Amino acid sequence: MEDKLLLIPGPTNLTPRVREAMAGPQLPHVGSQFYSMFKETVALARYVFRNEKGVQFVFTGSGTIGMESSVVSLVAHGDRTLTLMNGYFGHRMLMLNQVHGAHADSIDHPNGEAADPDALRSQLQKNRYSVVFMTHVDTSSSVVNPVEELVEECQKAGVLSVVDSVCAIGGVPLDFDRLGADIVFTASQKALAGPPGAVLVAASQQAIEFMEKRKDPIESYYMNLLRWKPIMDDPRMYLATPATQVIMALREAMMEVKEEGIENRWARHRKLGEMTRSQVEEWGQRFVAEEGHRADTVTSFWVQKENAGEIQGTLEKEHGIMIARGLYEERDKMLRIGHFGILTTETLRGALDDIDLVMRETGAVAGGVKATTSDKKR
Ligand SMILES: Cc1ncc(COP(=O)(O)O)c(C=O)c1O
Repeated sequence: MEDKLLLIPGPTNLTPRVREAMAGPQLPHVGSQFYSMFKETVALARYVFRNEKGVQFVFTGSGTIGMESSVVSLVAHGDRTLTLMNGYFGHRMLMLNQVHGAHADSIDHPNGEAADPDALRSQLQKNRYSVVFMTHVDTSSSVVNPVEELVEECQKAGVLSVVDSVCAIGGVPLDFDRLGADIVFTASQKALAGPPGAVLVAASQQAIEFMEKRKDPIESYYMNLLRWKPIMDDPRMYLATPATQVIMALREAMMEVKEEGIENRWARHRKLGEMTRSQVEEWGQRFVAEEGHRADTVTSFWVQKENAGEIQGTLEKEHGIMIARGLYEERDKMLRIGHFGILTTETLRGALDDIDLVMRETGAVAGGVKATTSDKKR
């Protein structure tokens, strides 16, 4: 099967090393070899989250399991929670709160507008909430929220905070210990450049104590973080069979993150973001996310001609590049370029030139095909 350049907001391309990690012999999940590899995986997860003080979890599941396990582990029926919404994943977080019986309030920002710490402060003064949920980068709108300020408001009000950092960790700066949020989670297939299938969660000691002292039991077997806690210390204990190949590949991917250095990785993503944004500006298309709050991992923009499908299809067929469209009713109107993981600035430059060509060929950008772009190689 031919490899395509994945510029969708996850999953992303894998290095040969990561792919090889999945192709080895099947290991028993309770054997000594997997045991030590798993312990290394948890230690590497601590490195990428900068989590020395809290509890670190890695287990099988997609990012949605991170969302739902934080809801179910912290929220009991009837608890009053607040979700900050400015894109599809904020809506999903609200829905999960409703599914699990919370009295779920929200602050509804228009898609692409960053969550406002002042609005959060005044909402926290109006009602007593148990937990505030927020998205770090909402992949649908590519807005990056000011999580430091938002978490600070929660801390001042004595409210637990949960940050969905699925589309950020590894590509956007985050320091779990300094941030002071109670739960932060991500998934393997985004900026960490592993295959899909593992969820990584960091929880503060305060969050763990809160779960331990809850009056109502946590209403889940698999998504109960307290059940996973002892497994992180001794993975030979059995809770559910881990996707061993995925965990081994994630370990390899995070070793690559460490070799690059997390700060260097953030700086590379900053450049990838800047390059993509300046290209969108050159095309004269409108960003979905407001200025000053555009993520370095994904860029969403409105396509004036509403021919996102044509552009996406042509790019895949003629250039082997996959980009994403908007979600649901925004499918034709929006394009999203994912730029994270192992992507280099050179590869991105070549790909942006190819996208430029297709944007012009399909009439999404006025001005015809630039002579210089036609024979660029990735
Ligand atoms: C911000 C955000 N949160 C949660 C999720 C859900 O993750 P998954 O699709 O791995 O379940 C995604 C997926 O793209 C995401 O971008």
